Parts: sequence; C-alpha cells; structure tokens
Amino acid sequence: MILIAGLVIFVACKNRGLKKETEKTEDKMEIVKEPFGIAPDGQEIDLFTLTNSNGMVAKITNFGGIVTSLLVPDKDGNMEDVVLGFDSLQPYLEEHPYFGALVGRYGNRIAKGKFTLNGIEYTLAVNNGENHLHGGLVGFDKVVWSAEPFQGDDRRGVILTCVSQDMEEGYPGNLTVKVTYSLTDQDEFTIVYEAVTDKVCPVNLTHHSYFNLTAGKSDILDHEMMINADRFVVVDEGLIPTGELRGVDGSAMDFLSPHSIGSRIDQVSGGYDHTYVLNEGDDEMVLAARVIEPVSGRIMEVYTTEPGVQFYTGNFLDGSLTGKNSVVYSKHYGFCLETQHFPDSPNQPEFPTTILSPGETYTHSTIYRFSTNQ
Ligand code: BGC
Repeated sequence: MILIAGLVIFVACKNRGLKKETEKTEDKMEIVKEPFGIAPDGQEIDLFTLTNSNGMVAKITNFGGIVTSLLVPDKDGNMEDVVLGFDSLQPYLEEHPYFGALVGRYGNRIAKGKFTLNGIEYTLAVNNGENHLHGGLVGFDKVVWSAEPFQGDDRRGVILTCVSQDMEEGYPGNLTVKVTYSLTDQDEFTIVYEAVTDKVCPVNLTHHSYFNLTAGKSDILDHEMMINADRFVVVDEGLIPTGELRGVDGSAMDFLSPHSIGSRIDQVSGGYDHTYVLNEGDDEMVLAARVIEPVSGRIMEVYTTEPGVQFYTGNFLDGSLTGKNSVVYSKHYGFCLETQHFPDSPNQPEFPTTILSPGETYTHSTIYRFSTNQ
C-alpha cells in the first residue's frame, strides 16, 4: 500500500487478475502502482503511473528505472505520448537502444573499457565495439530497482534505489544510488540523482528518453532545436573524444539560435551524436536546450546542473523495433538530450572530473519542462 495522506483505493483488475493500488488525493493527484511483469530472475516488476493536476502523465517502471510513457498536452490540450518505448515489459528485457532508461554507472563511452585510478588499471565490460557504453553488459538500465512512491505539495514521484556491488561490470566500490523521479504541477518531469561509494570510482548517471514531440506522427527532423553551448566535444570514428572542445561557430553543430534538427544533419557524419559543453550561467541549473515542435506547438526545455548534454538523433534506429501504438521506430524517430559529464572523462584529465571518493555525494539534477506556444 502507498503510505501517503489521502484516500487510498485498491482496485482488482478483473481482466488481468492483477491487483492495482491507486492513491487519490482530494485534488485528484494520483499515483497508481500496478504489476508490469516478471524479470528474468523471478522478481515482480511494477509500473507506476503519476498524474499531475493538469492531467499530464508519467509512467515509470522499476525495471531499469525506465520511463515508458510521458503524456504531454499539445496546443489544443490533447494529451499524447512524447517518448518512445513499449507498453509491456518483455521488449524491455530484450535488446533495445536504452529507451527511457536510467543509465549508469557511466553514461556514454569509456575508451577500450579501461581507466587507471590511483595507479590501478581497471578493465570494464566492453559492449560497443572495443569500448564500454552506458555502464556495460548489465547497466543500470537492466537493474531491478527498489521503488517507493511519494507525494509532495506540488509533485508526486518515485524514489528508486539500488546498490551496485564492488567490481560490478568492472567498476570499483559498492555504489549506493538513489534516483528521484517527480512530476510537478508546473508540467515538469524532474530527476535528481545521488550516489555514494566506499571506494574511489567514476560515476556519470543520465537519463535516456527518446523524445518525439509529434507523438510519433512523424520523425524528429522538423523539431526546432536550441542548445545553449558554444562548444562541443570532438570525437573520433568510435565516438571517443579526441580531447578537443571545438567552437560551434556557425557550423552545422551550432544550435545557439534555433534550427530545425534536419536542416543541416546531412553535414554531420552519421547524424548528431555529440556532447555539447553547456554555457555556464549565474544559477546552479542552466538551460541546456529548448525544443519546439511546430505542428503540435509542444515545447520542451531542459535544465541541468551537469556540464554537458549528449544530443543524439536516433541515428541507429532502423525500423526493426515497433513500439507503443504500433509506431515503427525508423531512423531519426526520436532524439535524446542526455545531461551528463563528458564521455571518457576518466581518461581525459582536462575534462571536469567524474571521480567520486568515499565521503562525497554525487548529485545531479535535471528538469524536462513542458509547455506549448499557444
Ligand atoms: C549514444 C549513441 C548510442 C545510443 C544508444 C546514445 O547515448 O550517444 O551513440 O547509439 O545512446 O545506445
């Protein structure tokens, strides 16, 4: 049962024989918890549905901390799903490109899966050519998280926790991770990441939703993108940083003023899959990006405490996966804005550090804020 002030209702779902727990408060804020399936190790997996006072909905499963749905109004008030994903657990257990996932211990790539800390060389699981990507073979996107729903004055959410064991995927240290997902009444989906370790180790947590503000009616090439970054991280053919942070300077990489994603994508080999170095502001949280979808009028702004954002345009989607509402996920059918530190930082001494020591707390906050242009 969900222990939050308010009226608690249990509903038996006759057609599925499943028990559904609903939390309703007087002003109709809701958290619903229902079974989502069984993980390969036999653990029962849940799906949490959060609804805000405007009717916006976020669905989150404790398998991989995956956001399976985000229902956001268009300019006429129609609520539609703006993230790619599936409506059942099974496809998430199979191979998929991190749809909606909570990514760790290290979002993005570590060259050849190797780094040295205090004179000791560590070898990580290699799962992307010769490199380590998104935490390895069993990253946080495949972990069954403990989940506790909560309700605050203007928000409701789920707190996910897990302990990643010392040497899991090759990383030193027992890492205790807490991730708080919230849906606010200001139409914000917020993520707060915290982690502590008992040995020095790299940490770079992020979120991997693929957004499509048309709600799957077309690809994302007509979305208007602004990215608040004068520079980006130059990478080699394996998408490993060369160490250079290059000015965007009016090139196809320049999104300082809004451009449609597709207008210059042909000039970028493979499509956008780059970390942008965010311009610093006076506040701890900076506006990383603003995206406008002209037909629906949906606007998404991303704010973060992180120094970078990976802009990925679904270049490797190839139509082989079909998601919710029978939408085929073809090339460029979704884009990701993954707030994070830079790739391969453990091997790049000039980059902001990703090293966490015992006694310190890793923290990272990101807000995805939704509105419309009418
Ligand atoms: C990476 C891409 C990768 C995708 C799915 C993104 O974060 O930048 O290169 O293909 O994740 O794994």
